[in-house]
Amino acid sequence: MHHFKRTLVTSALPYANGPVHLGHLAGVYLPADIFVRYKRLKGEDIIHIGGSDEHGVPITITAEKEGISPQDVVDRYHHKNCDAFSKCGISFDYYGRTTSAIHHETAQEFFLEIEGKGIFQQKNEKLFFDRYANRFLSDRYVTGTCPICNNSEANGDQCEECGTHLSPLELINPKSKLSDATPELRDTMHWYFPLGRFQEQLEAYVHTHKEDWRSNVVNYTNTWLKQGLNDRAITRDLSWGIKVPLESEEAVGKVLYVWFDAVLGYISFTKEWAAQRGESELWKSYWQDPHCRLVHFIGKDNVVFHTLMFPAILMAWNKGRATDLYNLADNVPASEFMNFEGRKFSKSRNYAVYLGEFLEKFPADTLRYSIAMNYPENKDTDFSWQDFQNRTNGELADTLGNFIKRSVDFTNSRFGGVVPIDCPLDVMSSFTVILTHDNDVEIDELGNRVNLVDLIDEIRDAYDGFHFREAVSKTMDIARKANRFLTQYEPWKLIKTDHEAAARVMSVSLNLCHSLSILFYPVIPETCNRIHAMLGFDGTIESLVMQVDNPEDSLWEQAKNPGLNMGHKLAGTSEILFTKIEDTDIAPELKKIEALLAEAEKREAVAVESRMEFKPVITFDDFLKVDLRVAQVIAAETVKKAGKLLKLQLQVGSVTKQVLAGIAKHYTPEEMVGKNVLLVANLAERSIRDEVSEGMILAVEGIDGKLFVVEPSGDEINGKQIQ
Ligand code: MF3
Ligand code: ZN
Repeated sequence: MHHFKRTLVTSALPYANGPVHLGHLAGVYLPADIFVRYKRLKGEDIIHIGGSDEHGVPITITAEKEGISPQDVVDRYHHKNCDAFSKCGISFDYYGRTTSAIHHETAQEFFLEIEGKGIFQQKNEKLFFDRYANRFLSDRYVTGTCPICNNSEANGDQCEECGTHLSPLELINPKSKLSDATPELRDTMHWYFPLGRFQEQLEAYVHTHKEDWRSNVVNYTNTWLKQGLNDRAITRDLSWGIKVPLESEEAVGKVLYVWFDAVLGYISFTKEWAAQRGESELWKSYWQDPHCRLVHFIGKDNVVFHTLMFPAILMAWNKGRATDLYNLADNVPASEFMNFEGRKFSKSRNYAVYLGEFLEKFPADTLRYSIAMNYPENKDTDFSWQDFQNRTNGELADTLGNFIKRSVDFTNSRFGGVVPIDCPLDVMSSFTVILTHDNDVEIDELGNRVNLVDLIDEIRDAYDGFHFREAVSKTMDIARKANRFLTQYEPWKLIKTDHEAAARVMSVSLNLCHSLSILFYPVIPETCNRIHAMLGFDGTIESLVMQVDNPEDSLWEQAKNPGLNMGHKLAGTSEILFTKIEDTDIAPELKKIEALLAEAEKREAVAVESRMEFKPVITFDDFLKVDLRVAQVIAAETVKKAGKLLKLQLQVGSVTKQVLAGIAKHYTPEEMVGKNVLLVANLAERSIRDEVSEGMILAVEGIDGKLFVVEPSGDEINGKQIQ
């Protein structure tokens, strides 16, 4: 195992074309912040770099829709998101913008370095052009029907519905988002990054991490590697973005592809962070010192950009250099998605709960806790208002809040607000309470002695393994045990018969309060600072963290041995840490969800109607190019990791063909076997999720998106052509 001296954490740069929503928070920003705060508690050197992704087509599309400039769009959302993150306690060390001068320089420097080594290729290609808007259309400006799942609103780069990466040329019935017209193909030239040249090096890199990266990250990356990496265009015909830094005629009107520039933002922002501290070379200790560990927090839709593209860009920079070599990521904890009330968040469909709005109504820590408990680590999760209410009331208020308040209040009222007696180490470490002179030990469900230090080590392991839900839930377990402990020993009764025993109970409780104020800090920092203050400490936990130079004296170590000894004075006051959420508080939110759902349904209905527009006219010869055949399904099965797809084996006359069809939500494999279907038999092969599809079968969409496979009938028709 590599020994790292410090860690650089990055979180995916959100596009500054809209407010961040709870899905973003759950998948990227909160886990990153929790991880960073945990490491800070341990006294480690760690920084968290983030910022706004301010280039790219999503920005220009928003600007055009609203009739304002791209600069206005990014100014608005950069500040909005910055503000929401800060209200939510996401403690970035630096939050930059890709429109900054340093970033433009950095990205251009990378382009020139790689261009100088002759690694890029220039290629002429045909691209969609909108003749009404007089512009080339980059992928996102084209929409159409997904050839895989039939979603009629697929983007030119990817289908949101089935997740397939597409090229605009693959869309059925493509349309320009600028004019709604059918675009035409025209020639243009672009710079390409030859990813394939780095295939072996990337394979070796990914291989060394196959044990420590999440399986979804490894699998997804390997799927790409297995298909063979292709050249990727890294320039675009756009006016908004970072100019291709060449004087030549051919560079005019070209900017760097947003993904090429965005990932480099992590580097630029680290430079800006260092400059702001007055140590302008410090960024190199985080990027170019092999003793620094690089960790990217991202959502699953960004995996290959961080496991293949960005590493390849850095490899291209490093190639042939003796100095200033960049580190590659040591881990890329990509999340799955957190859904909301059973539906996927979708900005384009206006189905979302925005972070800033949420925080106007409820405190950040209640949100952070509930979301952490729904962290989509290996699978999509679902967050709901009900869940939020239950966790806030049952876990935060009734368990944690109740324990802290009872401990502090009782000490204030009966022991003069002072820790009444020393808390012997073994008492703390085993939750033992000496009531009589026998040790009375708490036993867990398995009959083991509950040991605080062991529990804390388990939490440490969970955090180190990026298992945030487990870590937070184990932390709450300690609060639960502590709360039960206090209830069980009833110091308010005990004090009447055995003052010293009651004092011991309170000493243990107060020390547990201190432990909990540290252990909970990664997830509910603001609350922990309030507990800290109630316990009589000066200064915030953040300020204490800064004073620790030696990991052995870290706050994390103190949680195991909190050391509130006899005579320690509490603040003398107490407060309610969490206000319960009433049904009436969430009723308006539930109403809003209903309205959003109704709106979404209406939009879908409109989409169905608009399908009566016919496609552009084709000639008879065009039609004859399509080889339509009757085939019979002889075998069918589901496809792992592609919930929408069925893998069908078709008998077409004397030939068998394999087809992947996006009908798994509508037919079981058993229902399909034996059916006659219509097959487009001469469609170019394509592979999806490791499987080859040698054609497509025809289906029609009914109400509510239900698909019906077209089933021809007749005698002896198998293998016959449609005419
Ligand atoms: N803006 C991109 C998105 O929201 C993410 C970019 S991550 C980056 O999907 F770091 F590469 F910028
Ligand atoms: Zn699709």
